[in-house]
Amino acid sequence: MKNNNKYIDELIQKHNFDKTKLLKILLEIQENSEQNYVSKEDIINLSEKLKVPLSQIHEVTTFFSAINTEPKGKYIIQLCDSTVCRLSKNYIAKDELEKELNIEMGGTTKDNLFTLEYVACFGACDRAPAMRIGKKVYGNLDKEKISKIINELRGDLNE
Ligand code: FES
Repeated sequence: MKNNNKYIDELIQKHNFDKTKLLKILLEIQENSEQNYVSKEDIINLSEKLKVPLSQIHEVTTFFSAINTEPKGKYIIQLCDSTVCRLSKNYIAKDELEKELNIEMGGTTKDNLFTLEYVACFGACDRAPAMRIGKKVYGNLDKEKISKIINELRGDLNE
């Protein structure tokens, strides 16, 4: 496991030991982690160094679903499961993603590259069914498009 002590020190300094930046710091720790999450060790470390009670960090990590406290894949594929996407047959995209990745919704591939999860509407309803990977939104999903996206991401890793 990567030792984040030094990184967390630098991060807290960068944010001037400002406790109101807790969420931002947690998100940065997550972005810097190889498995897209904030580990228990990181949370304890952060609590001691930023002088924020563990209970307060726990509140933040449980309230904001964007913070993961369990390891996830390098790419988190978030398929919208709200009304417009459902009406646009997002189950076809779900089936295709599960088939392509050989996992079920909520799972992570064995190689830790992909996690597949449902999320609520993120405002791409005009392109439903839609999914998000990181900050990038993919809309009007069909089988061909999904297969192309997954292959491109796999290709990125082989470069
Ligand atoms: S309902 Fe799916 S993006 Fe809005």
